Amino acid sequence: MLNKTYLVTAGPTHEQIDPVRYIGNYSSGKMGFAIAERLAELGANVILIAGPVALEVKNQKILRIDIVSADQMFEKCQDYFPTCDGAIMVAAVADFKPVKIRSEKIKRSDEILTLSLCPNPDIAASLGRIKRANQLLVGFALETTVDEQKAMVKLRQKNLDLIVLNSLGDDQAGFKFDTNKVTILDQSGVIFTSDLKPKSEIAIEIVNKIIESQQGRAGIS
Ligand code: C5P
Repeated sequence: MLNKTYLVTAGPTHEQIDPVRYIGNYSSGKMGFAIAERLAELGANVILIAGPVALEVKNQKILRIDIVSADQMFEKCQDYFPTCDGAIMVAAVADFKPVKIRSEKIKRSDEILTLSLCPNPDIAASLGRIKRANQLLVGFALETTVDEQKAMVKLRQKNLDLIVLNSLGDDQAGFKFDTNKVTILDQSGVIFTSDLKPKSEIAIEIVNKIIESQQGRAGIS
């Protein structure tokens, strides 16, 4: 029985441009939801901060909080993280948002349209800054190539304990698919590499590594 509480972020964020348009990405939310379900199956309480996705939660131990934008996800993560034993940041947060949301629909025209974008807050890094010694912070890295060195830099920059690397270059892995293939790194380097498997099975392996890592840090063997 996993007597702990975890925060999980999942899905994309949508950054509004005008009343009918947004900037988004192809994240389905499947990997984050699968991790939330696995943690709950093991008895953990889960706070799932979900972007706009077409998925249902099954386990009653999951408290689902729906948000739309990165700013909203940031607010919820700041509110809930201090009460959690760990956070698993699976969401594909939009890196940029329009500087100004237009109140009227932008009209079609033959002119070139320039949208000014500003960076969104890095939610994982913000949690890395307030993380306590007994809290575990896990990030994901989705790249077009498997680059362990880059993942390691990201782990350090965001003060993560684990980073799960998946590559869009791997056939059938990453966004949209029901399967994934991952490499997990901690501060010492690669600790796990999976085969290509259904996301529900990958979730079991990721959660096992999270639990092992947290037990290791607490000195439980
Ligand atoms: O820097 P990059 O976007 O590749 O980092 C990916 C990791 O950081 C993921 O765990 C993602 O959920 C998290 N992230 C975040 N807020 C952002 C950007 C990324 O929490 N604005």
